[in-house]
Amino acid sequence: MRVYYTNRIYSLVTLLLWLSPAMAQVDPHNCNFGGVLDGDPLVPCNLWVDNVEEPFSVAPFRLGSGESSNWIGGPPQDNTNNLKGGYAFTTNTDMIKTTAYHKKAWMLTPPTNSTGPAGKCLTFAYSIDGLGIKNLEILLITYDIDNPDEIIENKTGDLLFKQVPLWSKKESTSGEWTKAKVTYTALGLHSLAFSANPDVRFSYSRGYAAVDDIVFTNGPCGNDCMFDTTFCTWENEKFEDDFDWSLGRGSAKRGTGPASDQASSLNYQILTGGYTFIDSGHPRRTGDTARLVSAVLNVTNSPLCLSFWLNLHGGGIGDIRVLYAPEDNPNNITTAVWRLRTGTEESSDFGPDWYPCQQTVSSVGNFRLIFEAEVGFPGASDIALDTITLTEKSCPSIPTGSTTGWGDCTFLENTCGWTMPYSQTASCRMLDRVTANSYNPPGHTENAYDITDSYMKFDLGCYLNRARERSTLVSAPFTADTVSCLSFFVYMFTTVATTTKFGALSVILLNKGTNTTLWRLQNQQQPGWTYAQVAIPRGSDLKVAFEGIKGLNHIGMIGLDDIAVFPSDCEAMPDQAHVEPADCTFDSGPCLYQIQNANGASTSPAENWQFAVDGEISSLRDHTFEADLGGYMFMDSFNTGIRSRLRSPTLGVNQTYCFSFYFASFYVDPNAKLSIYRDPDGVGELIWQFTPPTSNSVPGATTESLGTAGGYQDARWHYGQVALEDQSSRYHVYIEGEVRDGGWAVDDVKLFRVASDCKTRPETADPNYLMPGRSRKSG
Ligand SMILES: *[C@@H]1O[C@H](CO)[C@@H](O)[C@H](O)[C@H]1NC(C)=O
Ligand SMILES: *[C@@H]1O[C@H](CO)[C@@H](O)[C@H](O)[C@H]1NC(C)=O
Ligand SMILES: *[C@@H]1O[C@H](CO)[C@@H](O)[C@H](O)[C@H]1NC(C)=O
Ligand SMILES: *[C@@H]1O[C@H](CO)[C@@H](O)[C@H](O)[C@H]1NC(C)=O
Ligand SMILES: *[C@@H]1O[C@H](CO)[C@@H](O)[C@H](O)[C@H]1NC(C)=O
Ligand SMILES: *[C@@H]1O[C@H](CO)[C@@H](O)[C@H](O)[C@H]1NC(C)=O
Repeated sequence: MRVYYTNRIYSLVTLLLWLSPAMAQVDPHNCNFGGVLDGDPLVPCNLWVDNVEEPFSVAPFRLGSGESSNWIGGPPQDNTNNLKGGYAFTTNTDMIKTTAYHKKAWMLTPPTNSTGPAGKCLTFAYSIDGLGIKNLEILLITYDIDNPDEIIENKTGDLLFKQVPLWSKKESTSGEWTKAKVTYTALGLHSLAFSANPDVRFSYSRGYAAVDDIVFTNGPCGNDCMFDTTFCTWENEKFEDDFDWSLGRGSAKRGTGPASDQASSLNYQILTGGYTFIDSGHPRRTGDTARLVSAVLNVTNSPLCLSFWLNLHGGGIGDIRVLYAPEDNPNNITTAVWRLRTGTEESSDFGPDWYPCQQTVSSVGNFRLIFEAEVGFPGASDIALDTITLTEKSCPSIPTGSTTGWGDCTFLENTCGWTMPYSQTASCRMLDRVTANSYNPPGHTENAYDITDSYMKFDLGCYLNRARERSTLVSAPFTADTVSCLSFFVYMFTTVATTTKFGALSVILLNKGTNTTLWRLQNQQQPGWTYAQVAIPRGSDLKVAFEGIKGLNHIGMIGLDDIAVFPSDCEAMPDQAHVEPADCTFDSGPCLYQIQNANGASTSPAENWQFAVDGEISSLRDHTFEADLGGYMFMDSFNTGIRSRLRSPTLGVNQTYCFSFYFASFYVDPNAKLSIYRDPDGVGELIWQFTPPTSNSVPGATTESLGTAGGYQDARWHYGQVALEDQSSRYHVYIEGEVRDGGWAVDDVKLFRVASDCKTRPETADPNYLMPGRSRKSG
C-alpha cells in the first residue's frame, strides 16, 4: 500500500486504512519523498541518500521536486505529474564532481533482516534522461558481519559487503516516469541500493536518474517465483501429464541436479535455497512429462519478458519447453513458444551451473504459461527451474535458438541466422559484429555472467563506401500465421557535433522479389540505445532486412542489438520511424513512384523525371544526407518544353494526411511550374502549385538574383506541404513538373497521418492564395 495521497478523499481513505491492522504491514522503507501537498516537506523517509563518507564512499542522491530541482537538472515533475511532489535524483555532474571515491551515486535502505523465504517485491518509478547517465541499477547489498548498522552509523572499522545486481536499465526514458519491479529474497542482513552510474564518455553532457514511489511488499511480485518454500502462483498440472514437479534444496543424487538454488549460486547470502525440479528416477521413463502451470496471466498492452533459470546437470537431460495456452482452455496447447532440445546423449550435460533463459510472450487474450519438462535418460536427467520473473518488456530469446519464432538475437554468440554480406576487407567493413572498445560504445544486452557483449554495427565512417551506399543484415526465411512485432534496440551516433545528417537505418520486408520499407530512422538521433519496434505482416517465405545507409563520410555508426519478435500488431516506435507506403527518400531510386510523361507523346527518359545518380546537377546535393552524387528526382529541359509526373502508390480511404516534401528549382525559367494533383474519381484536382518568383513578384529582387531571363536562380531546397483530406475512394498523388528552360528537383517525400496544422507551404503554393493587392488566381 502507498502512504501518499493525491487528494483529500484519498487521504481520508488512507487514514482509515491506517487505523486498520493492515497498516501494520506497510514497509518502513516505502517512500514517495513528500512534497505532494502544499507545505508538505521533501523527505527521504528511512532511506539513506547521502553515502559520500566511508564505508560506501559513493556520490549522493538528492531530494527534489519539479518546482525546486528541474532547473538544476532533475525531472520536471514527480511520478504523479505533480510539480511539488518529491523525488530522489542524481545528475552526472553531481557524480563526477563529488569527493567520494566511487563516482557512482547510491541511495540505500538501512540494513534489514532476512526477507523470509517468501521474499519481497520492490516496485518503484524511475526516470532517466540525458547522455551523461550510463545506467540505473538495483543492487542487493549483503554484509559479512552481524552489526553493519554500527559500523555505518559510527564510521568505525571496515565494512565488508557484497553486491549483486538485481535489475538494470541502460536506456533513457526521455524524461518519462516508468514503473519497475524486482522480486528478491535475502537470508541475512541486507540493503537494497538504487545505484546510478555516470557515462564518462559524455561527461560534458547533462543527465539525471530519478526515483519515486518506492513500495516494498511481502512475497514475490505478481507471478514471479523463487520456489523457496512454495510454488507461489504456479501449480502442477493435474491431468495432462505423467508426473509432478517437486521442490528441492540441493540434489541428493550424484551427477545430476543442482547443488544449490540459482541465486545462492551467485551469492551464498542471498537465498534460502529452493528451486523446483523433475526427479527423473524410478518409476519415470523416457518421454514422461511434467507440467507446471501459471495462474491466468492478464493480457497487457505490453509484451512480457518471461525469464527463468535452468540447471541441466546430468547425462541424458530431456527436453524442456514453455507452452502458451489461451485461458478458456488451458489444456488446448496451441504453441510452444520456447524449447531447449538437449537430446538424450550423455554429452548433453550442461554441468552444475545455472543458466539464464528468457522469452518474450504476448497474447490478445488472457492466457497461461506452462513449463513442460520431459524425461531423457531416467535417473540421470533431473531438470531444475528457479527464479521465474515476468516483466513488462520484450526481450530476445535466450539461449540462442530456443525460440520457436523467428528473428530473436542478442548477438552475444553469433548472428542467430541473420546473414551479412561477404566482405574481403577486414579493415573497413560497413557491417560487422563488434564488441565495445575505444571506438564502439558498449552493447545493450544484459547478462548475468559478464560475457563480453556484441552487437551489429553499420560503420558510417568506412572510407571504402560512398554516400548512400547500403549494407543489409537479412533474416532467415520464415512463415508467420499472425502479424508479428519486430522489436530491437538501435544506437545512432556521430561524434561530429556539427553534422546531423549521417545515415539511416531501415527495416525492409522482402516478399517474393518485392522489397517494402516498413520502418526508417535517420539522422539527428540521441546517442544511446533506443527501443524500436515495427509490425511485420503475416505471410509465407518472408525475410526481413535491416538496411544501413551511409550519409557523407563521417565518423559514426548505427548499432543494432537485442532483437525480439512476438505476435502483436504493434505501432511503429519511435514515432518518427513510422513509414507510409508513399514515403520516399530517393536514396537508390523512385521507390513506388511511377514516372509518367504527362504529354503522353514522348517516351524519351531524358524528357521525364529521372533519378539523379551521379552529379547530373552539380549545384544540388541531395536533401536527405546533404551528400553529393545524386540521391533525388529531377527533370530539366534546355529549350524543349517538357511536362512529367511522379505518380504515388495508391493512398488509402478515410485517412487524412499531411503530404510533405522538399523541392528545388534550378536554372532560370519564369514559366516553370511544379504542381501537386490528386485524382479523386479519375479527375485531376490541383491542390498545390509553385511557380518560381519573377521580378514582378519578388519585392526587392535584384537582377543578380533573378538572372538574365528574369526568372529566379535558386537551386536550394525548399519545404513544401499540403493537406490531403480524407476521401472514400482510393487515389494517387501526382507531382507534376513543367519546364522549358530550367529544371525541378524533388526529395524526401513524407506523409504524416495527422493533417491538423498542415497549412499549405509555401503559402503562395495554395491554388487559392491571394497575393496582397491582387485578385484571386484562376484555376
Ligand atoms: C533482526 O532479527 C533479530 C533476530 O530475530 C532481532 O533480534 C532483531 O531485532 C531484528 N532486527 C531488526 C532491525 O528487525
Ligand atoms: C555509536 O554512536 C552512538 C552515538 O554516539 C552511541 O550511542 C553508540 O553506542 C555507538 N555504537 C558503537 C558500536 O560504537
Ligand atoms: C486479471 O483480471 C481479472 C479480471 O479480468 C482480475 O480480477 C484480476 O485481479 C486480474 N489479475 C491481475 C494479476 O491483475
Ligand atoms: C484449441 O484452440 C483452437 C484455437 O484457439 C481451436 O480452433 C480448437 O478447436 C481448440 N481445440 C480444443 C480441443 O479445444
Ligand atoms: C531486396 O533487398 C535485397 C536485400 O537487400 C536485395 O538483395 C534485393 O536485390 C532487393 N530486391 C529488389 C527488387 O530491390
Ligand atoms: C469510409 O467512411 C465512409 C463514411 O463514413 C464509410 O461508409 C466507409 O465504410 C468507410 N470505408 C472504410 C474502408 O473504412
